[in-house]
Amino acid sequence: MANDIEYPILTLEPTACVADLPFIDYQNNTLFIDNVSTKTLTQTYGTPLYVYSKNALLANYQAYVESFNALNDVHICYAVKSNSNLAILATLANAGAGFDIVSIGELARVLKAGGQAQKVVYSGVGKTADDIATALNAGIGCFNVEAISEIKLISEVATKLGKVAPIALRINPDVDAKTHPYISTGLKDNKFGISHDNAIEAYRFAKNLPSIEIVGIDCHIGSQLTQIQPFVDTLDKFAKLIDELFAIGISLRHVDLGGGLGVRYTNENPASVSEYANALLPKLLDLQERYGLGLHLEPGRNISANAGVLLTNVDVLKPTEHKNFAIVDASMSELIRPALYGSVMAVIPTDLANDTTPQVWDIVGSVCESSDFLAKNRTLSLQVGDTLAITGAGAYGFVMASNYNTRPRPAEILCDNGTHRIVRERETLECLWQGEHI
Ligand code: LLP
Repeated sequence: MANDIEYPILTLEPTACVADLPFIDYQNNTLFIDNVSTKTLTQTYGTPLYVYSKNALLANYQAYVESFNALNDVHICYAVKSNSNLAILATLANAGAGFDIVSIGELARVLKAGGQAQKVVYSGVGKTADDIATALNAGIGCFNVEAISEIKLISEVATKLGKVAPIALRINPDVDAKTHPYISTGLKDNKFGISHDNAIEAYRFAKNLPSIEIVGIDCHIGSQLTQIQPFVDTLDKFAKLIDELFAIGISLRHVDLGGGLGVRYTNENPASVSEYANALLPKLLDLQERYGLGLHLEPGRNISANAGVLLTNVDVLKPTEHKNFAIVDASMSELIRPALYGSVMAVIPTDLANDTTPQVWDIVGSVCESSDFLAKNRTLSLQVGDTLAITGAGAYGFVMASNYNTRPRPAEILCDNGTHRIVRERETLECLWQGEHI
């Protein structure tokens, strides 16, 4: 569990932390997001506050488009779960992105934000008949099917509606993604996908069902992968399956390699998007040439994480004989990754002019749980009233926030080259008991 993890003392150099973050920098000692001062932001909107850079988001998306442009028919389907704010989705929809969804709620968000249903792929292990009907009626691009029983259900629902359902089978390749066990999804032990050994049988089964059009093969092997090899191994396994499928008369239009490419939070050294593309392109080009296969990808974190920060105010400093605690106004309710996975995220000052003697601090919230920490053993110069920034918070930050301890969720702000606008209001206390009855 997270609390058993050892956290060595970590001293981060703030300017080095932001050096490779697009559109986040220090200007005259103050942290700026997309050319907006964090001081202006906290004075205008308060803390805790999620802040996103529109231009970072677009640059991260564009890196995928450019890195894979040697291929035809590439669909970058942004994983909505990583950050589903309507403004984020609208920004990406306008740039041409498709979307990977895992619920009808996410489909509704995509449509509300102006995304096109035909550019949506629908993953997820527990689709119900109602979910399937809603997605079919909306005209989604593809169901990523996770089980044989799901193929049957999709066929039944589509037949009833007089529609044809495009499907790709999510094959679990049994490849070790070498990431945190909670976010590893491509091993035999994981609940996801149809096992590699049963893949051909599942395709044969699908081929004989009415109202089904087989269009692809899909996987998602895990998240925050820093190495490329597991992706390459998966594609190798898929290439063999694709040969077998075409040989028995089952043709596909695309291969979907899921999301999962990691980002740097502190000291990781993840492969870049272009390195990832260069490792996969030879095989993908070969599949394109031989079978005309297009490519779908489902990146989430790689597009949204480093486009966002969480700003939080230092409320209380509590040095003890054993440890120093800095109690901030964000907590596990607003950002659960450290508590849930033991994630190590960078915490940096928004004002570099502070000359207090640096000390080692645990950065904690005020939620009544010992797992409520945002960072442990960080060397920082802190004073009450300082604002800290947690970087990499654009993905799996706000979307995983809760109201635990009856805490209103933060506002979200989108910055765009010197301008800022609120894209989600801070919740009020009244919001928190809306729909409740005494
Ligand atoms: N496609 C599917 C089917 C997925 O399940 C996921 C993420 C993605 C794409 C996007 O993966 P990404 O590119 O973001 O790695 N809450 C965890 C991450 C859970 C990821 C779940 N699936 C975290 O905070 O680290």
